Amino acid sequence: MTLLIIGGAGYIGSHVAREFLDQGHQVTVYDNLSSGLRENLFPEATFIHGDIQDYPRLIRAAKEGFDALIHLAAYKAAGESMIRPEQYSLNNINGTVHILNAAVEAQIPCIIFSSSAAVYGEPEYLPIDEQHPTKPENYYGFTKLEIERLLVWYERLKGIRFACLRYFNAAGYDAQGRISGLEQNPANLLPVIMEAACGMREEVQVFGNDYATPDGTGVRDYIHVSDLAKGHAAALDYIRRYRQSLTVNLGSETGLSVLEILEAARRISGKPIPARMSPRRPGDPGKLTASARYARETLGWTALSSDLDSLVRTTWNAYRRHYCRG
Ligand code: WQD
Repeated sequence: MTLLIIGGAGYIGSHVAREFLDQGHQVTVYDNLSSGLRENLFPEATFIHGDIQDYPRLIRAAKEGFDALIHLAAYKAAGESMIRPEQYSLNNINGTVHILNAAVEAQIPCIIFSSSAAVYGEPEYLPIDEQHPTKPENYYGFTKLEIERLLVWYERLKGIRFACLRYFNAAGYDAQGRISGLEQNPANLLPVIMEAACGMREEVQVFGNDYATPDGTGVRDYIHVSDLAKGHAAALDYIRRYRQSLTVNLGSETGLSVLEILEAARRISGKPIPARMSPRRPGDPGKLTASARYARETLGWTALSSDLDSLVRTTWNAYRRHYCRG
């Protein structure tokens, strides 16, 4: 198949591009490199340096002719989205309208969209399944939900089939070390821990140790990016084979606490990784876990590489190669 991967130079996008290349597909990456990195591009893929706001360029790219489009281009910092909603409206929502219109114009029949567990908001029950109410707590999650709703209308009016993939906490790196770009100024737990392990920051702040969880720290459903990438391939197969759209969780169904991850990182890296207990981060729920039953039943997909050691070891390997040579 010929695939247009928008945002394919980013952290998740590059793993998705790698998976589709490994499966023998022809890949074109479209990315403005605002957070994506050149080092995440693969020589076998065509690269177009373009912005999703640049509609003429996007149309030209789309008209090269593709069987499907994978859309991973978005701002994704939940906290920042509450301070700068304008940027999130423009980039995430308007940018997606451009992508959808380009898909219509270029007659691309299928779209796989990177959605997020952020569409659910504060959990009303656990594990979270796809029937859970969608009441985003931050503007970022709102933009993802709005895009899901746009996709429903574009299917109804223009016949574009879609898969909305609601990711839980993406983590880990390609186990073969083929993806070397590291996110700049990360706020997510594992990259923050790794920066502390490499001496790039003094310590890790543990946001809250008084949650109603076994060790008091926040519990999340961490899903390895390579598992996520396989989920994209499975979703594309499904919507093409059954000519049906779907909205599905991609999670590991395992809850890991901040302290469990920190301890594993100390053990695997052999570094002390200083940590300090800090107040809760506003808006953080104590525990979030996914039900991935629907993904199992419809896609035959299940997380295979999302155990604690694989998540931490592959991330440590990427950071060690980059920052801790020798
Ligand atoms: C994980 C756990 C923190 C940093 C975010 C977005 C969400 C989704 C995934 C895209 C929590 C704790 C963290 C630190 C810590 N993004 N923590 N010290 O908040 O679950 O989800 O990324 O779709 O929309 O909100 O991920 O990695 O920031 O936090 O103690 O320095 O680690 O409190 O319990 P989060 P995270």
